[in-house]
Formats: sequence, structure tokens, C-alpha cells
Amino acid sequence: MAPGIARDRWKAVVTALGDRRAAPNLRWVAQLTGRSEPEVTRAFDGILRHRAAIAEIRRSHVEGGRDFYAQIQAPLDLYALVRLIRPDAVVETGVSSGVSSSHFLFGLQDNRRGRLYSVDLPTPQQGDELQANESPVSLPPGRKTGWAVPDGLRERWDLSLGPSQELLPAVADRAGTIGLFLHDSLHTPRHLTFELETVRPHLLPGAVVLADNTEWTGQAFDRFARSLGVPIVRRGRSGLVGVRIPTEAMRASAPRRTSRSRSKR
Ligand SMILES: C[S@@+](CC[C@H](N)C(=O)[O-])C[C@H]1O[C@@H](n2cnc3c(N)ncnc32)[C@H](O)[C@@H]1O
Repeated sequence: MAPGIARDRWKAVVTALGDRRAAPNLRWVAQLTGRSEPEVTRAFDGILRHRAAIAEIRRSHVEGGRDFYAQIQAPLDLYALVRLIRPDAVVETGVSSGVSSSHFLFGLQDNRRGRLYSVDLPTPQQGDELQANESPVSLPPGRKTGWAVPDGLRERWDLSLGPSQELLPAVADRAGTIGLFLHDSLHTPRHLTFELETVRPHLLPGAVVLADNTEWTGQAFDRFARSLGVPIVRRGRSGLVGVRIPTEAMRASAPRRTSRSRSKR
């Protein structure tokens, strides 16, 4: 399917979101999951039934003094990933108003299974108005982490507040096995490595691991992908990247590395 046609299909939702950057990237989702474009298209289609809730999230943002929506540029892609992977546990670090959380939760609700485990260390806005030197993901006065997540979605949500350096190990234990992980918290090489190594033992074969803003995290994600022997799948030219944890079948079909190719690394 031509990307232009695909975009038209979900135009109404992207308009409700109020951010053109949220336009779906089918190719990225297909590459990450190994699924065909028709399957991916069907997965995205489900988001159309959440148009009213998405418009409501947008209204909360505007009321909260935030005139943009897509903090993560791929909220619809997160929804489609949940629909395709059908995970029992999704884990994310970094929530802010809850754009990514809401889209994971839309997917879990439609799957009728699974829980979202989120960790967030809130960054409060200092005064009544957001200052130029403050992050737009800081919390407006009187709002709490996840303030834009619709009430009807919260049943499947396990939210822990505090630094992921302290909380993520216990959260990952609680999640058990993880089918989808998103890093969107503190973007430093050391912190990203900590989070990836913390969730690694919990990742199921076929799980997808995502990290946003990797332009700030040096080689941390590349090292993780290399250690797994899998390619990084980048979303366009952005810093949002992902990998798929190899299954036995993928390992068996991968070309064997010779001692000569190993010595080149
Ligand atoms: C980019 S925002 C998350 C946006 C969210 N994923 C979305 O798309 O809607 C980053 C969030 O991570 C939080 N954060 C910063 N350092 C953190 C840490 N060490 N542990 C957990 N969360 C942290 C920030 O306060 C902020 O709420």
C-alpha cells in the first residue's frame, strides 16, 4: 500500500490528535513485528473506534496549557504494536501526561488481555506558566503523572512513581515476562543501558524493545542490539528506534558468523 493512501485512512484520528507527526508509519511497525502490511493495516484500523477518547485527550492537553499532542511521535504505532504482539505485559518508563500510556491501554483494552506497567519520576512545572527553559513534558500546576489518560482505561494500568533506577527492577519482576518495552524517561547512555539490562531477562522471544530520543544516548541502544545480534529498526530519521528479540526460528535462519567475521568487530 502506498504510504499516502495509508495516511489518508487514519487522517481523522491524526486530526483529532492535533499533531501531524503522529501519522502512522506502517513500514516501521511491519519491520519490527515481521508482519505483513495488510495485517499491520488492520491493526491500525482499530484505533478509529477510539476517536472520541483521543479528541478528549487532546482537549485535556489544551486545557492543561499544552497545545501539542504527540510527545512521542508514534502514539498510533504503539497501539498497533500492542494489537499485533498481544502482550500480557507492556512496560514503559516515562509517562508525563500519558500519551504513550493511553495508546498502549487502548490496545490492551481491544485485546481484552494484558497490563501496562509504567514508571515515571514526575517533573513539576515551576510556576503558573511554562517557562521557555522548562520541558514541555513537565506537569502543569495541579496535575499528576498520567493526567490525560481517560478514566475508562485505568483498569489495566499499574503506575509507579519514582526514579526508574530504583523502581524498574521490582516493576519488571511484577510484570514477569515482557512482550513490549518502551524507554522514554531519562535519556542518558548510562540510564538507557541500565533500563535495557534490567528488562533483558524478562523479554520474551518476539518481544519488541523501543527507545525514544536515542540521538542523546550515544551507543547504548546499538550495543544492546549488537549483543542480541539483531538489526535496529529506526522510525524514519527520528531518534525512535526498536528491535525484535530473536525467536528460535530467527536464530536458526540467521547466517552463522565465522571466526573471521567475529574478529572484524
Ligand atoms: C518524554 S516524557 C514521557 C512522554 C511519554 N512517554 C509520552 O509519550 O506521552 C519523560 C518523562 O520521564 C520522566 N523521567 C525523567 N527522569 C526519570 C527517571 N529517572 N525515572 C523515571 N521517569 C523519569 C519525566 O519527568 C517525564 O515525565
